[in-house]
This record gives sequence, structure tokens and C-alpha cells, in this order.
Amino acid sequence: MGWFFKTFNYSVGKKLLMALTGFFLILFLFVHLFGNTFLYLGPDAFNGYVHLLNETNLVYIIRVMEVILALGFAFHIWDGVRLWLQNRKARPIKYYIKATDPKSTWTSRNMIYSALIIFVFLVIHLRNFWYEFKYGSIKQTGATDYDIVVKTFQDPIYMIIYVVSMVFLFLHLHHGFQSAFQTLGLNHKKYTPFIVWAGRIIAIFLSAGFASFPIYFFFFYGGN
Ligand code: HEM
Repeated sequence: MGWFFKTFNYSVGKKLLMALTGFFLILFLFVHLFGNTFLYLGPDAFNGYVHLLNETNLVYIIRVMEVILALGFAFHIWDGVRLWLQNRKARPIKYYIKATDPKSTWTSRNMIYSALIIFVFLVIHLRNFWYEFKYGSIKQTGATDYDIVVKTFQDPIYMIIYVVSMVFLFLHLHHGFQSAFQTLGLNHKKYTPFIVWAGRIIAIFLSAGFASFPIYFFFFYGGN
């Protein structure tokens, strides 16, 4: 077991864990986006879906998945911050600016900042829905889960926070996806352009998909 912990003390080990947790979180985003599409099918469909996840026997599987998901986020963030600190220490600011690799993109150099914005978004998001669905007081007024989502997205502040955060999610995924492949050593003259494009398409699909909900409920929703 000693070798295992030693590996994760090295930069490569850290990057490996980031890549694997990153892929896992992307997988979660696909499942989450699919679940959210029930919002487009109306209140009965969405409330039924949330009920199925939280109030039937499926709840035990969901609770275990939530713990795994939280660990995935925690490792990804913890490792990301450690890597960033380590890179900063290795390259003092002056040298860093001069020696910035011309091939490195603005996004790749600023992954920590897009990450920070996504983290703040996540805290706000969990308070809006996860907490509100389970422990919030709005429900005591007779509001359903669907009503909570509609009410949140009809608030211009939240609509803007959600849409802007999805732009940063796009930037983060766009670089993160290809970087994860590189870390895993899957870097090849022939396949790398394909991976870059796949990352681009996945980033657009997920961020535009998520942004569509606040945009729809704010601008186009007429009530059900
Ligand atoms: C903007 C569109 C989004 C909508 C409409 C949405 C909707 C929701 C809803 C309704 C819940 C509560 C589910 C429940 O407790 O049963 C939830 C939970 C959650 N969301 Fe989102 N979400 C969106 C974007 C995102 C994004 C971009 C992320 C990640 C960066 C994310 C991460 C999470 C997490 C981690 C949970 C808790 C999962 C759980 O406990 O099962 N969401 N979301």
C-alpha cells in the first residue's frame, strides 16, 4: 500500500487522480442533465422523478451515490488546489509571466479561477435545490419541487448567476477533458485533434444544456 500513497505525493499521481475524478464528474453531469430534462415535461413528470429518487427504495442507492459524488468533488478540488499551489511555488511570478508557454491557452492557465467560480456556483446551487427540496421552508407553503425550480429561475439574479456559471463550466470542461486524456498518456498525433474536438462538443453540450433551464424559465415559460 506504501507505493500507492507515495505515487499520490508526486505531481503525476495528483494529476492522475484529477483526471479520473474529472471523468467521473463529467459522467455525473450527463446523468444530471438527463434528469433535469424532466423539467421540460412539466410539473407532474419532474415532481414524480424527484419523488422516485428521494421517497422510494431507490433512496438508499441515491444516498450511497451522493457520498461517492461528494468524495469525487472533494478529491478533485483538493488535488486541484495542491497542484496549483505546487506549480506556483515552482515558478515565481516574474519568471512565470515571461516563460508562459505560448501554446498554453488562456483557459488552461486559468483553470483554478474557473474552478473557483464553479465551486461558488455549486454552493449556491445546492442551497437553492438540494437543501430546499429536503429541508427548506418553501415547501410548507404547499410549493412543489417543480415550483421551487421555476421560482428560482424567474429571479433575474439567479438566472444570471446560473447562465454566467455555465460559461465558466464550458471553459473548465473544454480544457479539462483534453488535459485528462493527456495525463492518462493518451496523447497521439492522430487522435489528439479528435479528443480536442470531443472535449469541445461535450463542453458545449453540457453547459448549453444546463443553461437552457434558467433561460427557458426566465424568458419563455408561460406557466403550466
Ligand atoms: C443549471 C441547470 C441545473 C439544474 C436545473 C439543476 C437542478 C438540480 C436539482 C433540482 C437538484 C436537486 C435534486 C434532488 O435533491 O433531488 C440538483 C442537485 C445537484 N446538482 Fe444540479 N442542476 C443544474 C446544474 C448543475 C451543475 C452545472 C452542477 C455541477 C457543476 C450540478 C451539481 C449538482 C449536485 C452535486 C447536486 C446534488 C446531487 C444529489 O444530491 O443527488 N448541478 N440539481
